[in-house]
Amino acid sequence: MADIQDRFKENTESDLSNQIGKEVRVGIIGTGWIAEAHLENYMKMPDVKIVAAADLVPGKAQALFEKMGIAEGVHFYESGHAMLEAEQLDAVSICTYNCQHAPCAIDALEHGVNVLLEKPFTVTLDEAVEVMKAEKKSGKILTIGFQPRMSENMQMIKKIVDSGELGKIYYLQAGGGRRRGIPTPYGTSFIAKETGGIGALGDIGSYSLDMLLNAVGYPKPLTATGYTSDFFGKDPETYPGHPEYAEAFGVDDFAAAFVRLEGGIMLDFRISWAMNMDTAGDALILGTKGGLRIPSTECWNGEFDKPLRIYKNVAGSEVSYEVPLKTLGGFGDLFYKKLRSFINAVQNDGKATVPSSEIIYNQAIIDAIVKSSKLGREVEIEIPEI
Ligand SMILES: NC(=O)c1ccc[n+]([C@@H]2O[C@H](COP(=O)([O-])OP(=O)(O)OC[C@H]3O[C@@H](n4cnc5c(N)ncnc54)[C@H](O)[C@@H]3O)[C@@H](O)[C@H]2O)c1
Repeated sequence: MADIQDRFKENTESDLSNQIGKEVRVGIIGTGWIAEAHLENYMKMPDVKIVAAADLVPGKAQALFEKMGIAEGVHFYESGHAMLEAEQLDAVSICTYNCQHAPCAIDALEHGVNVLLEKPFTVTLDEAVEVMKAEKKSGKILTIGFQPRMSENMQMIKKIVDSGELGKIYYLQAGGGRRRGIPTPYGTSFIAKETGGIGALGDIGSYSLDMLLNAVGYPKPLTATGYTSDFFGKDPETYPGHPEYAEAFGVDDFAAAFVRLEGGIMLDFRISWAMNMDTAGDALILGTKGGLRIPSTECWNGEFDKPLRIYKNVAGSEVSYEVPLKTLGGFGDLFYKKLRSFINAVQNDGKATVPSSEIIYNQAIIDAIVKSSKLGREVEIEIPEI
């Protein structure tokens, strides 16, 4: 598995050119909250034709399209599989809850369709491996929906590390996390075991991991000592007016871990949907020549709103300086860029912007934290051959 990055060799540079290419026929699998953001942004692209959509809930897909005024000529289905069987699609956006990511992605790839899969990649490492096997067999594009990658601010973190300004990186600390923010505005799909599968770990922990691991070139994870808890998720007082959510809660609302990465890097990770603290701290990258502080964000919508700060010793003096924010484009702008880079790749036989060969390591860490927490000890991270 050590050579997986070499064998897949995707291009991590995003092609964001806005030129209009050949028509791409798109289908949507899962038409809940995030599907609306996919539709809004595909609608801005004259070369994208949304031809079909599917949701397990009868009538849900059509209702969303009618609300958005784009139902005419679109075919609606009650499962992703039925849509894939009936339609000739170039690409799908998979916007299902986490537990349906792997089956839908494998199904789409087996039908020869390019896939934009919402984050997190999957629930378990085994599922991610199966998706990658289908990807390899199909030769199609699979990209994972981490839109913060499109942020110039986040790209700046990687540029700083790559510039050598920080020297050799030996320690990463994940930060942020919510004081109270268990996502239940649309019911229980994020918090039930059978739909969400994993909680804060997958929902916002995967973003936090992606920011740090992307910055240091996605080193392979080796071992993890993980902890997860659910004290707030399981407490009826967390949900005024909806005590039944406590009963439905079957995932983590907090997680922490020490993870050893290849190249002698230690990752100190924590994430929270709910805790009795305002923040679990800023994210830090420590190197032999400098340290980088990435300001804590509560929500993980893909942007941070305070400047980065670099700490160094210069001629025997301790100095620090700000790296100004590049942009404050916001969620909509990043979302458009995520979809556009996928469509451009489909049109030009291009590469995934956020490739599975990287995100498999993100998923392996999440998987190891869950396993280690259950076992109460450190676990070795083994990624099967693909
Ligand atoms: N990138 C982002 O900023 C972002 C933001 C929110 C959510 N998400 C991710 O998007 C995914 C969906 O989140 P959501 O808030 O839209 O959830 P949701 O529960 O509102 O919607 C999911 C929908 O998928 C449908 N579905 C499930 N399996 C299906 C299948 N096999 N075929 C057809 N339909 C199926 C469900 O019936 C439901 O309507 C989650 O994995 C989440 O992590 C990403």
